Amino acid sequence: MTTNLLFEPLELPNGTVLKNRFVKPAMSELLGDAQFRPTAAISHLYQRWAAGGTGLLITGNVMVDPTALGEKGNIVIEGYRDLPQLKRWAAAGSRNGAQTWVQLNHPGRQSPKHLSSHPVAPSAVPLTGDNAFAFNPPRALTVREIHDIVHRFATAALVVQAAGFGGVEIHAAHGYLLSQFLSPSANVRTDQYGGSLTNRMRIIEEIYHAIRAKVGPKFPIGLKINSSDFRDGGFSEADSLQVIHRMADLGVDLIEVSGGNYENTMVQGSNRGGALFIDYAAKAKQGLTAPILLTGGFRSLDGMTQAVANGKTDLVGLARAIALMPDLPHRAATGQFDAIDITRLSTGIRALDRRVGSYVGVSYYEMQMARLAQGKPVRRTKNAWVPLGYALRTQGPSFLTPRRA
Ligand SMILES: Cc1cc2nc3c(=O)[nH]c(=O)nc-3n(C[C@H](O)[C@H](O)[C@H](O)COP(=O)(O)O)c2cc1C
Repeated sequence: MTTNLLFEPLELPNGTVLKNRFVKPAMSELLGDAQFRPTAAISHLYQRWAAGGTGLLITGNVMVDPTALGEKGNIVIEGYRDLPQLKRWAAAGSRNGAQTWVQLNHPGRQSPKHLSSHPVAPSAVPLTGDNAFAFNPPRALTVREIHDIVHRFATAALVVQAAGFGGVEIHAAHGYLLSQFLSPSANVRTDQYGGSLTNRMRIIEEIYHAIRAKVGPKFPIGLKINSSDFRDGGFSEADSLQVIHRMADLGVDLIEVSGGNYENTMVQGSNRGGALFIDYAAKAKQGLTAPILLTGGFRSLDGMTQAVANGKTDLVGLARAIALMPDLPHRAATGQFDAIDITRLSTGIRALDRRVGSYVGVSYYEMQMARLAQGKPVRRTKNAWVPLGYALRTQGPSFLTPRRA
């Protein structure tokens, strides 16, 4: 078996070359300061990841509106105020032939209570499920507000380009605002932004066109999208396939396939050892003009290699694996990596594990990113009290808010 394909460059349709097939997908670092600026720590983190051999680093979600935050510690780009910090971050993430793209996001109704008393969404439809308690019911956006959000994405992308980043990724997955627009259960609008799939995806098309008009044809624009909502009446796989084909035809340079949201956190809990959305990715690739990045569940070099070699994906996204092993691609290239165990942590009390499992899952990786940013080694443990203590220290009582799908 050869692993060579993973180490081969990939040329995007617009001529941008990624040096290999390893991608560190977005993981919210929570390394913004109180004014939502990137800190020096985040530059250190990206320098470290770039040194580890990953070809493409996609930043954790960066928000486009300071009044619509997903988490404490988010970075926001609204204009050129923080260009010097952004430039340092971009430079750190461009070392060693790596590229860093900034993921742009608006949380919509997934902005927790302690950050948003009145979140906005396509429609006034509250979240359901076990995590709903943490979010205030949203109100529906006006058309004027939708246009403002489109404009905010485009402005942020222009600043990202000016700072020297390699590209942007529009976050339309995991139940955040754009994913809410796509979902018929969250979006019950009766105007041009709701109803048919054409209408539900209109805001994403408008954001794409607005960004493209600002950044020009050569600047990569990616799109992260769920393969489906995995619920009746939600965004279906057939819808998802139509959206990605349409967006690729419009000129999106990379499609990232993922899944899950706060109502159905299927991604976070998994350690099944296989790529979660591989069958969907393989279907999506047929006739698609843009390359596919498949994220979720990759653990073994063999699994990654087969996925690319068998034409199921062009790029492999490794979030938790690269948080735990920042030089995974380098190790793989030098024969020092076979597989990684993404351990489930435990408090030692089964009933408690059920309650705090999702907080622990996220906090553990946030803790590792903070450690890497400080030049420290990753701290592997199976003891859930370690990340729980870290989360309490850094987030305060709000750490018990479910923060991520
Ligand atoms: C701590 C943490 C933060 C995350 N933040 C984001 C984010 O900001 N944007 C996003 O699209 N996905 C985010 N994700 C999801 C990952 O990009 C990825 O889709 C998911 O972890 C599954 O991939 P994996 O099995 O390789 O970890 C996050 C995941 C973790 C663990």
